[in-house]
Amino acid sequence: PDPYAVFGNPIAHSRSPAIHTAFARQTGENLVYTAILAPRDGFATALGEFIAAGGRGANVTVPFKEEACRLATRLTERARLAGAVNTLSIGAVASDAATSHTSGTADATATNAATAANEIIGDNTDGAGLLRDLQHNLGCALAGRRILLLGAGGAARGVLAPLLDARPARLLIANRSADKAQALAEHFQPHAAGCRLAGGGFAAVDTGEGAFDLIINATSASLAGQALPIGKHAFAHDGLAYDMMYRADGDTPFLAEARAAGVGRCADGLGMLIEQAAEAFFVWRGQRPETAPLLAQRRHD
Ligand code: ATR
Repeated sequence: PDPYAVFGNPIAHSRSPAIHTAFARQTGENLVYTAILAPRDGFATALGEFIAAGGRGANVTVPFKEEACRLATRLTERARLAGAVNTLSIGAVASDAATSHTSGTADATATNAATAANEIIGDNTDGAGLLRDLQHNLGCALAGRRILLLGAGGAARGVLAPLLDARPARLLIANRSADKAQALAEHFQPHAAGCRLAGGGFAAVDTGEGAFDLIINATSASLAGQALPIGKHAFAHDGLAYDMMYRADGDTPFLAEARAAGVGRCADGLGMLIEQAAEAFFVWRGQRPETAPLLAQRRHD
């Protein structure tokens, strides 16, 4: 079987091996997918060993997504925009998905190079996974809507271009460090066509703007079990609160807060995890697995 793996630190609780193993069984693809714990300063070495042993593709998670971006010999346009890579294809890729959502000469180069055995193609399927979960699984329309994106780190950056592509009327990035949110808004301004895109501190949410149709938590505050200082009025009674994080045993602190504020619907990030995996599987194998059986386990209402 063709070897695939997810690299991260920590990695023990990763669901990716189970998800990809289920996809392989469903599609009849002959592959084996494992989790590899790389030392924080040893990702390049671990990846090199995996490739030397015949590795065909990899997912990359915290804290190696930016380093994977630098290690890739080619980047898809969506990985370049995200500034981070969560999917690596070693040598030939089975589909042209790696170069979809792309434009320009750099991608033409990537397409041609995708057949070279020594290439490491860096892609990012996180944004596509989030959009698929929001629009397809949760039936959340984004065009003309008002979106609040909490956080300005790698996770927020990775989903900004696809969110803007969905043509919301308003997208406010709010972050603990206001300057990072402002810089991110400035950076993505060229993609904002028709959308009022702005960034600021959490206080920017409290400037009488009213409620948002969609509030996405892309901070890592939930990991630390911490809530965010967002005013109750930001959550609409017909709005959706979405946490990119998830936990097996109940609401994240952000979702608990949103629920207490009277938000209409809540969803955690397990759907995004499953959909980004399906997109990666498609990039590698040219087959799009069905996600519905796995999605049945996810928490939303
Ligand atoms: P990731 O790849 O998960 O986005 P990151 O790039 O380190 O990780 O970004 C973490 C994000 O979570 C940042 O937006 C960070 O805010 P700052 O930019 O102000 O550091 C945010 N974050 C982390 N812990 C937080 C907390 N306890 N409260 C609010 N925001 C927090």
